[in-house]
Amino acid sequence: EKGGYEHFMLKEIHEQPRAIRDTYRGRLLRDEAIIKMAGVEDNMKKFLNANRIIIVACGTSWHAGLVAEYIFEEFSRIPVEVEYASEFRYRNPVITENDVVIAISQSGETADTLAAIKLAKSKGAFVFGVCNVVGSSIARETHAGAYTHAGPEIGVASTKAFTTQITVLTLIALRLARAKGTMTSSNFRLYLQELELIPQKVEQLLKVDEHVKEIAKQYLLSTNCLYLGRGYNFPVALEGALKLKEISYIHAEGYPAAEMKHGPIALIDDRMPVIVIATSKGHYEKVVSNIQEIKSRKGKIIAVVTEGDTAVKEIADHVIEIPESEEAFSPLLTTIPLQLLSYHIAVMRNCNVDQPRNLAKSVTVE
Ligand code: M6R
Repeated sequence: EKGGYEHFMLKEIHEQPRAIRDTYRGRLLRDEAIIKMAGVEDNMKKFLNANRIIIVACGTSWHAGLVAEYIFEEFSRIPVEVEYASEFRYRNPVITENDVVIAISQSGETADTLAAIKLAKSKGAFVFGVCNVVGSSIARETHAGAYTHAGPEIGVASTKAFTTQITVLTLIALRLARAKGTMTSSNFRLYLQELELIPQKVEQLLKVDEHVKEIAKQYLLSTNCLYLGRGYNFPVALEGALKLKEISYIHAEGYPAAEMKHGPIALIDDRMPVIVIATSKGHYEKVVSNIQEIKSRKGKIIAVVTEGDTAVKEIADHVIEIPESEEAFSPLLTTIPLQLLSYHIAVMRNCNVDQPRNLAKSVTVE
């Protein structure tokens, strides 16, 4: 059942090329240059008239929502707010009939997300679900939706659900961008083509596994870890930190790279590994100067860079290369080595990777 892998988590990490492809199959029609998603098409007016989109979710799904915020605002020019479902539901939020709420949930059973949906519905908002489990409570409670086609995710640490959620949300953002005219048709075509290439890039990227394992060996006794990223990759830093925390029990924090100087930099010494995402198109120079600041304080740097990078290589203790892509799609790549890193560290620490202590796959209590 683990398909020859030692753990479900590793199997699921390796399933991502297939899962992402299954998620856009039949929806991304490159030859016709269209995106076809019934749940979006049938409710196009609601999306186009939306004052804003509010995304509600928890945990890793909330991180996918944050990536989507950047993508929706860039592509479709619709204001987006991303909320923890648990905070949203208890805050007496201002919601109107002109709001579109997108609820993201792998399991479709998360109690807080479900309650946030019910609240939004009671205020008249249109609620769209992005779930993985077919027929789940959230899938049934929402007005419309689009499934991720990740297949069953057994490992408690979410991996393929995250990348397929981003894929679905990207498709929606692209569809809305065309409908709103906020993206030229040539850019639209370019993005379709680029998105279609992601699975093979992930496939290629998964070959870094051995290299990441070697890096993991050197940090398995760490007690703290910092993850930094900017722009589209800021949420990936949060997700990388969450993954490490939940399966290896190492304390980790994710930050937008530029926030480092507002506090976290005080933590940096020669025992602090800092994982920095420094893709070539993502505010690269600024991230490089952050890396220099870490270096001068003797922090250990594990950098995720674009293939062919030279500047970071000279400063970082380790580099992990990802294939080149559009920056907006880079989270689908940068997240892969971070999943592998936490996986290997957790295995080497003898942790129960698939069923970490104190955690459940579906959080059906608030
Ligand atoms: O099933 P959901 O996507 O609603 O679950 C939300 C979180 O409980 C979940 O993502 C959790 O944070 C994972 N264990 C993260 O790996």
